[in-house]
Amino acid sequence: MQWAATFLLCALVHALPDGYPSIPMNGVKVSIKMPLVGVGTWQYNDTVAAQTVTDAFKIGYRHVDTAYVYNNQKGVGDSLASVTKALGLERADYFVTSKIPGGLNASATLAALDGTLKLLRLDYVDLMLVHWPAPGNGAKVVKQQWLTLEKWAKQGRARAIGVSHHCRKHIEEILSIATLPIALNQNQYHIGMAMDSQPRLHDKVFNEKNGIIYQSYSSLCGPCPAPDNMELITGKLVTSIGKGHNKTGAQVSLRWLVQQKIPIIPKSSNIKHLRENFEVFDFELTPADMNKLATATSPPETGTKQNPDDAQDCAFEEPSELYAV
Ligand SMILES: NC(=O)c1ccc[n+]([C@@H]2O[C@H](COP(=O)([O-])OP(=O)(O)OC[C@H]3O[C@@H](n4cnc5c(N)ncnc54)[C@H](OP(=O)(O)O)[C@@H]3O)[C@@H](O)[C@H]2O)c1
Ligand SMILES: *[C@@H]1O[C@H](CO)[C@@H](O)[C@H](O)[C@H]1NC(C)=O
Ligand SMILES: *[C@@H]1O[C@H](CO)[C@@H](O)[C@H](O)[C@H]1NC(C)=O
Ligand SMILES: *[C@@H]1O[C@H](CO)[C@@H](O)[C@H](O)[C@H]1NC(C)=O
Repeated sequence: MQWAATFLLCALVHALPDGYPSIPMNGVKVSIKMPLVGVGTWQYNDTVAAQTVTDAFKIGYRHVDTAYVYNNQKGVGDSLASVTKALGLERADYFVTSKIPGGLNASATLAALDGTLKLLRLDYVDLMLVHWPAPGNGAKVVKQQWLTLEKWAKQGRARAIGVSHHCRKHIEEILSIATLPIALNQNQYHIGMAMDSQPRLHDKVFNEKNGIIYQSYSSLCGPCPAPDNMELITGKLVTSIGKGHNKTGAQVSLRWLVQQKIPIIPKSSNIKHLRENFEVFDFELTPADMNKLATATSPPETGTKQNPDDAQDCAFEEPSELYAV
């Protein structure tokens, strides 16, 4: 009896927590669960990233998003090691996403992949992305890099692999040689963009038709130049809708995405905000709310003044330092 109770407890504890909102995603071998919410770490150094991951995991987050070029994988890895130990979590209980630079040759790709696991102190990541397309380097490099990533993943080092900033033409290039599914495409997507018909909307429908999960980054337009960076947090539309649900504008902005089953990774170094961003599964926007948010045309993708970091993925044909976000 006691054994059964202990076993049951372990079974419950040792998995993404029951009820942690997730969606099925095409993994290397099988379909795996993609947590709908995680914590972002872009622009954080090792110290801030470590504190953020620790705070987030104490709140209940079980998913973190980092990247080779964020230069904070050591901080993320160190904090994961200690916070998961303190919380009694097994490796299977949480989800780690990282990214390698696009356009690397096979040996540089392998070095970035292995270096990532070393910094993160992990045997595997749950999801590894090619951070940006490398059209200027030509299709040959793109294909060689993808196949190198596939081989590495098949050795058990990633449970799923995917891309970021890839628009239709980049995806098609990979699909022409891929032997594993492209699990996910991570792109800037937030309220204000749903009516945008620009090619840089990354062909959301094309992704979905091909079984590629479309993930949102900068869900709050965080890096958009002021005042657009506040519109999805304290703006009129989201706060007025939030009032009816006793929720903040930021929670409305995030809920609009997860209610469409679009995974999010909002970033905050403020515990109160981290908690708010995690509490977006206990209310439901009405069809009228959803419609108002879907037809909003502001803020545009990277803000009215356009974030100078914007990669302009589909338009760009040459490798650029602008890709380094
Ligand atoms: N694939 C890519 O190339 C790419 C590009 C960009 C981002 N990403 C990923 O996506 C993550 C999120 O995107 P992001 O960092 O660009 O921006 P974001 O999540 O849209 O916004 C972050 C900003 O919003 C503020 N904020 C967050 N929650 C808030 C809340 N509840 N109330 C008020 N303010 C709040 C934060 O400030 P406080 O700290 O003061 O809360 C921060 O300044 C990144 O960290 C990164 O992991 C990936
Ligand atoms: C990390 O970033 C924080 C916030 O910007 C800053 O206060 C701190 O000095 C930085 N730490 C290091 C080691 O650079
Ligand atoms: C691969 O790229 C790295 C880094 O740019 C470079 O040092 C190396 O010479 C390249 N290897 C080949 C075989 O081209
Ligand atoms: C509104 O939300 C706040 C913060 O989550 C909570 O403390 C408060 O009890 C809620 N009020 C009502 C009426 O539900």
